[in-house]
Amino acid sequence: MSPRPLSLFALSTTRPFGEKVAAWLEVPLAPLEEREFEDGEHKARPLQDVSGQDVFVLHALYGEPGHSVNDKLCRLLFFCGALKDAGAERVTAVLPYLAYARKDRRTKARDPITTRYVAAMCEAVGIDRVIVVEVHNVAAFENAFRCPTIHLEAAPLFAEYFASLLRDQPIAVVSPDPGGAKRAEQLRERLEALTGREVASAYVEKFRSSGVVTGSWLAGDVRGKTVIIVDDLISTGTTLIRAAKACRAQGAGRLFAAAAHGLFIGGAPSFFEETAFEGIVVLNTVPPFRLASQTAGVKLTVLDAAGMIAQAILGSRDIR
Ligand code: R5P
Repeated sequence: MSPRPLSLFALSTTRPFGEKVAAWLEVPLAPLEEREFEDGEHKARPLQDVSGQDVFVLHALYGEPGHSVNDKLCRLLFFCGALKDAGAERVTAVLPYLAYARKDRRTKARDPITTRYVAAMCEAVGIDRVIVVEVHNVAAFENAFRCPTIHLEAAPLFAEYFASLLRDQPIAVVSPDPGGAKRAEQLRERLEALTGREVASAYVEKFRSSGVVTGSWLAGDVRGKTVIIVDDLISTGTTLIRAAKACRAQGAGRLFAAAAHGLFIGGAPSFFEETAFEGIVVLNTVPPFRLASQTAGVKLTVLDAAGMIAQAILGSRDIR
């Protein structure tokens, strides 16, 4: 174990999740002051000495009322900058949900590559390392950051959940787009290892232009199988509904959805009204605050990612 003292901060609305991580680590959350100013400006400062310390800052960068994605990003950058100015030896940004990670390449002329710009801003304020959970494109994420990064997959948590739920059934793991095939493969392999049975795989084509999603061709065999469609996130739910229809058209049996981050924009009403899914599983990297509790209660299972993050924090302590 690193001899440097560890401090764990959690910013604004990430505090409840931070308490869970702190409990796993058996350390209290470090005290900080967060102040809001008239014109939407804010300041955050540590209320303890951080000089020479190994500091971890938790902040999940999803938007919510009163705290936009941009506001949270800015808060993270300023706070980490303040920690470095105050002499923290190493600052690790722990981001259960990383915003702007979907725009990782140019699909239109002169498109921004926001993942890289976020990385540049993190490095500019002196963030030494970044820990994230299930980003859209791991390779793009790793290439965007020059500082060391740790990427945590949701697959181990999903595999454990589905292995006990679907132990005796023929299973297929499906990616709702070709880009997510690796993510689906990771879950498929883990399920095979846990169930000791063969698990099939498939993917559905997907095209998105000007916000419109199309494509329904499915590669693979899902006929008669219990299908788990796995993605990095659920925003409006359109992607998963489209993939579910493609699976049904190819003779799939029971349908489940698994995604690390449930944004559920606007309550994702069509997604929850969609009868295709028997169950939807997400992590608590984004709390399901946009869902009415009746909606969430019926089909949604939220798995706790705090232990996985705590272990990553501990495991990273000796890595320079
Ligand atoms: C994009 O390719 C992502 O991996 C997700 O599939 C997408 O963001 C989900 O968005 P929605 O739920 O609105 O279809």
